[in-house]
This record gives sequence, C-alpha cells and structure tokens, in this order.
Amino acid sequence: MNVSALTVPAATSNWKRVGWVFLLLGGLFAAGNAIMFLYVDGHGSAEIKNRFFATALAGYAHGIGGAVAALLGPFQLITRIRTAWPRVHVWMGRTYLTAVLAGGLAGLYFGPQSSAGIVGSIGFTTLAVFWLYSGTQAYLAIRRGNVQVHRRWMLRNYALTFGAATLRIELPLLIIGGLSFQMAYTLVAWISWVPNWLIVEAWLRRRRAPAR
Ligand code: HEM
Repeated sequence: MNVSALTVPAATSNWKRVGWVFLLLGGLFAAGNAIMFLYVDGHGSAEIKNRFFATALAGYAHGIGGAVAALLGPFQLITRIRTAWPRVHVWMGRTYLTAVLAGGLAGLYFGPQSSAGIVGSIGFTTLAVFWLYSGTQAYLAIRRGNVQVHRRWMLRNYALTFGAATLRIELPLLIIGGLSFQMAYTLVAWISWVPNWLIVEAWLRRRRAPAR
C-alpha cells in the first residue's frame, strides 16, 4: 500500500475541531463504560453480565474490541497523523479493524440473545452485520489503494462504533422521559446507531461522490 496516498486535505475549521472533541469524549465515555462493565462488580445489568461471562471469550472480545475501536477511531481522523506519521495511521487502523472484527463477531453472537426482546435483538444483530460489512469495505478499499472510498467506509464504520456512546446517553434519557426500561432498551437497539449512520450518509452526500 502506498501510505503517502493517505494524505487528505486538512480539516482546519473550528466546527471540525469541536466535532472531533465530541467524538473523542463519546469514545472515552463508551470505552470507560465497557471497561467498568467488564471489570467492576455491580456495574451494569447483572443479566447481561451473566450472559457475557458465560461465554467469556466472546464477552471480552466484545467489550475490549468495542472499547479499543471507540478510543482509536477519533485519532484515525486526524489529518496531521495521517500526513506526518502515516505508519502510525496504518497500524492504528489495523488495530481498529481487528477490534471491530472481534467486537462485531461477538456482537453477532450476543445480538440474538439480547435482553432487548425480538425487535431489539434484530436491531443489535443488524448493527453487527453493518459494522462488520462497513469495516470489510473500508479494508478492501485501502488494499486497492482507493483512499477516498476507504475514508467514506471508515466514517460510516465509526458512526456505528459511536452507537455505543449514543446508546448510553439515550437510554437514561428515555427512562427519565417515562419509558419502561424494556421499551427504552428495545428502542435504543435501533436509535443508537441508525441516526448516526444517516447523519454521516447525509454528510458524505454533500461531498463529491467518487466511484464506490
Ligand atoms: C457497533 C457494533 C456493536 C454491536 C452490534 C453491539 C452489540 C451488543 C449486544 C447485542 C449487546 C448485548 C445486549 C443485551 O444482551 O441485551 C451488547 C452489550 C454491550 N456492548 Fe455492544 N455492540 C456494539 C458496539 C459496542 C462498542 C463500540 C462497545 C464499547 C465501546 C460496546 C460495549 C458493550 C458493553 C459494555 C455491553 C454490555 C452491556 C452494557 O454495557 O450495558 N459495544 N452490545
């Protein structure tokens, strides 16, 4: 792969900086929550925890894979890293996609068993499929040397990763708003990621669309 081809125009506007800080804080929040869920007794739903630890390999793959992806994602968007230290971008990207693969396969495994009921389970499982699919497309694009298409798939993929942050913001808000836990949990299995994905899709459409 020609790493110098990873150079893209600098993202300099203040809005982009604000957006990046928002993504970083969301990533930290989601990763911190995952680490607490795995390692702190009493943190998180006992029912989900039992399921995670009944197949501990999948549980750790999901929690740690998700945390690594949530943390690394924002740094992959930094133009200066891509231009000044392209090898760092490449290795963080490999780590990110490995984390998505591990977390996504485990997500596929846990999705159908979710506490979110049948509708919510379909939501989580669909998310796992799109997460793995968009990561695969991003990888294949960069192996072909197509930087623009790679970038678009990675943005879609991080929008889905970021669902881990939006879920944990939306769930308490819906419960405070009066929904039962069950109803709120079923709803967030969809609304934690579909709007993120649509926002990125709309943003990508405003840019010049290269050949897919
Ligand atoms: C984007 C693809 C993802 C999919 C498809 C997915 C799917 C799932 C599913 C099905 C569950 C079990 C829910 C239940 O049993 O009711 C779960 C729980 C969990 N996921 Fe994910 N997840 C994804 C991303 C992430 C990320 C990025 C993180 C970490 C940053 C993460 C961390 C967790 C944790 C800690 C739990 C345990 C439950 C809790 O904290 O409330 N997931 N996920």
